Amino acid sequence: MTTMPPHRDAIACIPRHLAIIMDGNGRWARQRQRPRTVGHRAGARAVNVCIDFCLNAGIRTLTLFAFSSENWQRPKEEVGALLNLFVRALEREVDELHRRGVRLRFIGERDRFPDAMRQRMRDAERLTADNTTLNLCIAAGYGGRADITQATRRLAAQVAAGELHAADIGEADIGNALCLADLPDPDLLIRTGGEHRVSNFLLWQLAYTELWFTPILWPDVDAGVLAQAMTDFAARERRFGLTNEQIVEGTRR
Ligand code: FPP
Repeated sequence: MTTMPPHRDAIACIPRHLAIIMDGNGRWARQRQRPRTVGHRAGARAVNVCIDFCLNAGIRTLTLFAFSSENWQRPKEEVGALLNLFVRALEREVDELHRRGVRLRFIGERDRFPDAMRQRMRDAERLTADNTTLNLCIAAGYGGRADITQATRRLAAQVAAGELHAADIGEADIGNALCLADLPDPDLLIRTGGEHRVSNFLLWQLAYTELWFTPILWPDVDAGVLAQAMTDFAARERRFGLTNEQIVEGTRR
């Protein structure tokens, strides 16, 4: 999706698209002298809280960074535990999400995930494809640079095939070749756990996204924390490179 002009809903009210880097599961577990996997399980419960919040608040798209392309380098046991957790969450939650009208999709490179998990991802996407209350996008095996790289390859192949002139490639072509091309860019990115970086998440799509950081660890996130993020978001002035006067004029129209 290319840069959108200011939109009334996204200026003053709630984000149309909320993206979250769910950080701090490991530290949450360490604070309790428990293995990191316990933190991830608690993190999965916070995911449910967050989905409930979005459904109640009328947020139409939620993208969660569940597993980065770099996370494959974590200890084998932790990666295995995370994959198990994802599979169990899919088994447990998909029917209920479908009942609530949630459309599930997965972004990222799936090749390294076990066959059974890829099958569950496909099944969940097919089952929920026509749902419209909330687009729930799970970034798994995802990296923003990898996404831009695959988009570049796709466009290069079109140029090689004579379908596209290199000189004609514009931002819209790149945006349309990326994952989530059919959805608006995130209006708000929340990162929990105290770090202030985007960690290779949605690099292109975050160009004009408001960033909200909190030291709260992901498993401790509740509706109150999310409501605070919404309040702060509503107070932000999003200018998209324009002047304050232009924005005020635009909202009168
Ligand atoms: C970052 O915390 C979190 C992850 C790498 C995994 C995120 C997974 C979940 C929230 C659980 C389930 C998700 C779904 C979609 C069912 P960290 O381990 O880097 O924490 P640390 O920085 O404290 O070590």
